[in-house]
Amino acid sequence: MTRRLMERLPIGHPKKRRSDISGFHKLDPSDRLEAVRKFSGLSVVDTEALLNGLSITTAEHMIENVVGVISLPLGIATNFLVDGKDYLVPMAIEESSVVAAASNAAKMCRPTGGFATRADPPMMIGQIQLSNVSDPHDVKARIDAGLKEIMDVANIPSSTLVKMGGGLKEIDVRRVERVAGPMIVVHLLVDVRDAMGANAVNTISERVAPIIERLTGGSAGLKIVSNLATSRLARASAVWSRQALVESFKGVEISGEEIEDRIISAWRFAVDDIYRCATHNKGIMNGVDAVLIACGNDWRAVEAGAHTYSRVIGSPLTRYEKLPGGGIRGHIELPLSVGTIGGATKINPGAHTCLKVLGTQSSTEFARVIAAVGLANNFAALRALATEGIQRGHMKLHATNIAVEAGCHGKEIEVVAEQMISEKNVNVSRAKEILVRVREQLLT
Ligand code: MEV
Repeated sequence: MTRRLMERLPIGHPKKRRSDISGFHKLDPSDRLEAVRKFSGLSVVDTEALLNGLSITTAEHMIENVVGVISLPLGIATNFLVDGKDYLVPMAIEESSVVAAASNAAKMCRPTGGFATRADPPMMIGQIQLSNVSDPHDVKARIDAGLKEIMDVANIPSSTLVKMGGGLKEIDVRRVERVAGPMIVVHLLVDVRDAMGANAVNTISERVAPIIERLTGGSAGLKIVSNLATSRLARASAVWSRQALVESFKGVEISGEEIEDRIISAWRFAVDDIYRCATHNKGIMNGVDAVLIACGNDWRAVEAGAHTYSRVIGSPLTRYEKLPGGGIRGHIELPLSVGTIGGATKINPGAHTCLKVLGTQSSTEFARVIAAVGLANNFAALRALATEGIQRGHMKLHATNIAVEAGCHGKEIEVVAEQMISEKNVNVSRAKEILVRVREQLLT
């Protein structure tokens, strides 16, 4: 079948890749990896990269004073349907329940079309701080007068970024009021294409600063990227129908409307109280960071931007509304300075393979999927907190971890974990006692 014909296949055609892989969580890790390999067309080298992680030799080239590498569990969130395209989402995280929560929220909104997303062009901001400017009102006019010279120095035609259509596109001048008098900050708007972009922005900022000093008569202080990437926002929304909400509480006496009201009220708590807002946003970043870490991106940059953006808009990063015919719609908007090329995305073979698993073709597509994951994790947290609480979901994996810590192996792990859960007594000393009994029974 030709590629063009494949692309025209309608949704639901048997040849279309689907991320709602039934029973994925029940498979063992090697069978899950095989399902991911088939979905993403991974090579043997790719799958080995996921299993082996980073070598010490590669690590040695990444940072200073290397003595080893640290691993994290890598899980795959299933069920993600984003703008009509299916994704398996790699997530690296030490916290239990986050991958399951994302998969479950994505599953619950599939019947209503999954996630609808939008991302701004990949525009980053470089800041040049100017002091000793004689006439702050005149700075913009002076910069505009020398704009061609600035652009020529910033956008070297032979640079890969410029060849790809990126580079410095616009200059803004901001006046920041201070007790000590106004400060002028020049903002360089740089299209960084598929990179996260901090390096490109910092290079351009340092390169054009002397020209800006000459044109304005000021002296340039800091020249550095801003992680508050307000020109690079990503948005996602999804609808969870009343039916999906009710079905997710099989066997529990609770009406659809009650679930909706409780979720909206849990979100309102974050709107009204900054202490709750921090935790609400943390739940969003559980998903966002896990994808960024898996895909070798700078999650600290995104964290910094997300929390500051929440402060700028004066509310949590998500919002929810009840729909007239039942069900709720959730939205998320946050700055996402993410890249599919450069940095660790290439150097770290595991991260490189995770990007292949995700299969996003550009930094904007990558940002759209990440926004959907953030919304999914937030919805899942609100749904659980507003109803059954989160501890129930956490308990199974927590008990499993305790059983392993107590020395259980193989089938013993599940048996001991289940016994502790049924006794509501989950700790290492109890696990050891149960383990002794399990082994005695196995021997007799
Ligand atoms: C835990 O990692 C995240 C949550 O606390 C988020 C939230 O409270 O919304 C469950």
